[in-house]
Amino acid sequence: MAKKKELRLRHMEEAPFFDFVEEEDRYLFTGDPAKYRFNVIGTGTIGQEHMRVTELEGRAIVHGLFDLSAKSLAVAQHIFKEHSDRQLVTYPTLEAACNDPAADALIICTPNHTHLDVLKVAVQSGKPILLEKPMAPNLADAREIAKIAKDYVAPIQVGLQYRYKATYAEAIKEVLGRKVLGDVKTVSMAEHRPPFLDKVGQWNKFAEKSGGTLVEKCCHYFDLMTMFAGARPTRVFATGNQAVNFVNFEKNGKKSDILDNAFVTVDYKNGATGAFSLNMFSPSFYEELIVMGDEGRLKAFEEINTLQDDVLQTGLDILHGEDAISRRISPRYIDRIETSGHSGATYIEHARFVDLIDGKDTDAADCAEGLLAVLVGAAAELSVATKQPVEIADLINEHDLEDFLPPEK
Ligand SMILES: NC(=O)c1ccc[n+]([C@@H]2O[C@H](COP(=O)([O-])OP(=O)(O)OC[C@H]3O[C@@H](n4cnc5c(N)ncnc54)[C@H](O)[C@@H]3O)[C@@H](O)[C@H]2O)c1
Repeated sequence: MAKKKELRLRHMEEAPFFDFVEEEDRYLFTGDPAKYRFNVIGTGTIGQEHMRVTELEGRAIVHGLFDLSAKSLAVAQHIFKEHSDRQLVTYPTLEAACNDPAADALIICTPNHTHLDVLKVAVQSGKPILLEKPMAPNLADAREIAKIAKDYVAPIQVGLQYRYKATYAEAIKEVLGRKVLGDVKTVSMAEHRPPFLDKVGQWNKFAEKSGGTLVEKCCHYFDLMTMFAGARPTRVFATGNQAVNFVNFEKNGKKSDILDNAFVTVDYKNGATGAFSLNMFSPSFYEELIVMGDEGRLKAFEEINTLQDDVLQTGLDILHGEDAISRRISPRYIDRIETSGHSGATYIEHARFVDLIDGKDTDAADCAEGLLAVLVGAAAELSVATKQPVEIADLINEHDLEDFLPPEK
């Protein structure tokens, strides 16, 4: 049957009372057949999410897995069995996982400090790659990855998928597409959330491995702030500390050294200014975006509040003066997508990745944007450490980054 464009009604496809419809008559009640097979490298928290979302998106399936930890592999396989009876391939080495001709693309979900080494092996395959964010924990590794990507034969997408959260995706359409605020003048974002979760080897408790909180986690927000400001960052000034989380945490004799709160200001080349507020000892999850233009104000939020049964709430207000229409909406994806991970953003990230493999132009983050997000995070970490503002141009020159950053607008 020819490929169709009709609305997908997955709840009908899977409804047992429609089981009587024979396979050959399933037209509306079936999705497009999978075209691609993915190998997932690193099967911890986000590796499992990528496995789940690959199957849900449906144009690709998970073919094989590689992880250094037998336990991570066993748990990922066990969980996969809950929704599929397909047997997954496992590999003795990273090289074997990357070069299996049966796999069409690779998803790298290993800790930040391993990204460069894993990527160097992965690119020997010539396959499209989805590389988790942050691209790397430091500017030297991030530069090398951006350099590799520039000459690579296939796309390398970076996992900056917060741009697909419904609140931010809708805000991008309004502010950058429809220009409902006029010219953007200020961008502020906040993330208040519980502490970093336990990880294999606890790599995220140490700045050397993760890049520090402002790189590891906040690269998502710096990516968004740059998009809304519409220009390259020029100066970063930040303050923050480790006030509550992991202050007594040690592993292998080394004390945890990551920030759990920070305030970061960013100046942009076009005169726009930005501010970011981080708190990681909050009992529930709250993210906020406020964009002010010369013609209006946008406020968007996403919240999973312990007082409201841990259910996702979202909101987006566009406020104008007397001369234009204001409105309030609650941007959402359908439940099945929203609950599949990161408020549905990972699902859309996968849709873009498959489109990219198909050769289409997409708005997926590339390695140049990945490098810029690490650059702002690294500048913020440096500013906290030195208590001084950091000129982005100085870091660009010091690390020879210009050729690998997105072109200036
Ligand atoms: N895009 C997002 O929103 C998002 C969310 C969570 C994590 N991440 C990123 O994904 C990556 C993994 O994070 P996580 O939370 O899944 O960590 P995790 O510790 O839960 O899982 C990492 C897995 O990688 C394995 N591993 C470590 N080194 C390896 C190697 N050299 N080769 C193969 N496997 C290896 C570990 O055994 C573990 O199973 C990090 O870069 C993190 O920043 C992104």
